[in-house]
Amino acid sequence: MSETAHRASITGKIGFVFAASASAVGLGNLWRFPYLTSHYGGGIFVIIYIILALTFGFSLMIAEIALGRKTGKSCISAFGDLCKKYKWIGVIAALIPLLIVPYYCVIGGWVTKWFVTSATGELGTLADGSYWGQYITGEISGMSDPTAWFVIFVLLCVACVAIGVDKGIEKLSRILMPALFIMIIGITVYEFFAIDGIMDGINFYLNPDVSKLSGGTFLGAISQIFYSMSLAMGIMITYGSYMKKDVSIENSARNIGVIDTVVAILAGLMIIPAAFTMGFGDSSGMGLMFVALPQVFEGMPGGFVVAPIFYLLVLFAALTSAVSLLETVISVFVDLKAIRRKKSIIISTILIVFLGFFSVMGFGPWYFDIGPFSQGAGWLGVFDSLTNSVLMPIIAILTCIFIGYVIKVTVITDEIKEGGMAFRFEKPFVIMIKYVCPVLLTFMLVFGLLDMFGVFSLY
Ligand code: PFF
Repeated sequence: MSETAHRASITGKIGFVFAASASAVGLGNLWRFPYLTSHYGGGIFVIIYIILALTFGFSLMIAEIALGRKTGKSCISAFGDLCKKYKWIGVIAALIPLLIVPYYCVIGGWVTKWFVTSATGELGTLADGSYWGQYITGEISGMSDPTAWFVIFVLLCVACVAIGVDKGIEKLSRILMPALFIMIIGITVYEFFAIDGIMDGINFYLNPDVSKLSGGTFLGAISQIFYSMSLAMGIMITYGSYMKKDVSIENSARNIGVIDTVVAILAGLMIIPAAFTMGFGDSSGMGLMFVALPQVFEGMPGGFVVAPIFYLLVLFAALTSAVSLLETVISVFVDLKAIRRKKSIIISTILIVFLGFFSVMGFGPWYFDIGPFSQGAGWLGVFDSLTNSVLMPIIAILTCIFIGYVIKVTVITDEIKEGGMAFRFEKPFVIMIKYVCPVLLTFMLVFGLLDMFGVFSLY
C-alpha cells in the first residue's frame, strides 16, 4: 500500500487506537510476558511491570506519538527533521526491527506449526510435555521442519505487505482482537474450575515475593515494556505521523497502553498458573506457551476445536505485529538508500531469512550459551537480549535527551496540546522525560547488564 493510502487509513480516533493496538498486541503479550514473569519470580515481576508501564511506558508512548505527529514523518526523518545532527538516533532505532523481525518470525513459525498440528487432529502430540523442546532442537523431525515453518511465516508477512492487504488486516483485526480477548478470558475461567490446585499457581502469579527481586527483574520488565508496547524502535513515531491533529495523543497513548497491558496480564493469568500447577514453570523457558496450553486444551471438553481456533488467533495477532515491524524495516531501505519499495521488500526478505536462520539453527547444531544473556536459547536469546535489554533502553534514553535537552520538551507538549487539547499528565510527563527516564533507564541498563553477567548484584 502506498504511504499516502496508509497515512489516510488510520486517522480516526478509534481507528488510530485500533491500528496501534494491533501492532502492540502480539507475541510480546502472549508469549514473552508469561515466560519472563515465570522466570523472574511471578507476582513481583507483574507489579514492577505495571508500575513501569504506567510511568515509563506511558510517557515514552506519548513522546513518540507526538514526535511522529509533529513531523509527519517516520522514525529516521522525524529526528533529522527536528535537528539534522541527530538523524542517526532515528537510523539506529529503525534498524532495531531488522534484528527483531527474523527471530519474531521464528516464533511466528512455531505458532503456525501449532495451529496446523492442532487443526489436523494431533493435539495429543503437542500435549506431550517434551514435544516443544524436542521439536525446536531438531530431535523429532530435524531442523528442516522448524526452518520451513519459519520461512512460511516470513512469506505470510511479506505477502501481506507486498500485495498491500495491510488495510484489510487492520479491518479484520477489529473482529479478531476482541475474539482473542474473549477466548483468553474463557480459557482462564475454564482452568480456574478444571485444574486441581490452580490457586497455588494463581498465588505464584499474583502474590509478589520480594525476595525474588534483582537487578535483572527491572531490566527484564523494562525490556518487556519496550517490546510489548512497540516502543524505542520507531514504530509509534510512524503511527504518530498518521494521526490527525484533532485526536488526543494523551488519550490514545493511555488506551493503547491499557489495552496492551490488560492483554498481557490476562495472557499471563491464562498461562502461568496452569503451567505452574502442572509443574512446568520456568523450566520451559521460552516454550511456556507451547508446552502448557496444549495440555490444558487436551483435557478440555471440545479442546480439539478450541486449540486450533486459539492458535489461529495468536497467529493473527503475531502477523499484525510482524507486519508493522516489517513495514519499518522496508521503509528504512527506502528512506536511506532511496531504493524502490519493491526492491526494498526483496532485500528485507533475504536479510530476514538469513538472520532468522541463525535463530532456528541456534537451538540445534549452532547452539551456544553465554549465560543469562542468551537465555538458554542460543542465537534467538542473544538477538532478544541485544535488542530489548540493550539497544532499546539506549534508544529510549537518547530519545528522552533529544526531547528534553536538544529540541526542548515544549516542542512536544505544544504538539500534544495543539488545538486546545487537554494534557493532564503534562507536569509528570516533563519530569519523566527530562529527569526520571534518562537517569533510571541508565541505572537499569548498567546494573541490569552487570547483574545478568554475574559481575555485580544489587541483591
Ligand atoms: N509489540 C508487538 C508484540 O508485543 O509482539 C510487536 C513488537 C514490537 C515486538 C516491537 C517486538 C518489538 F521489539
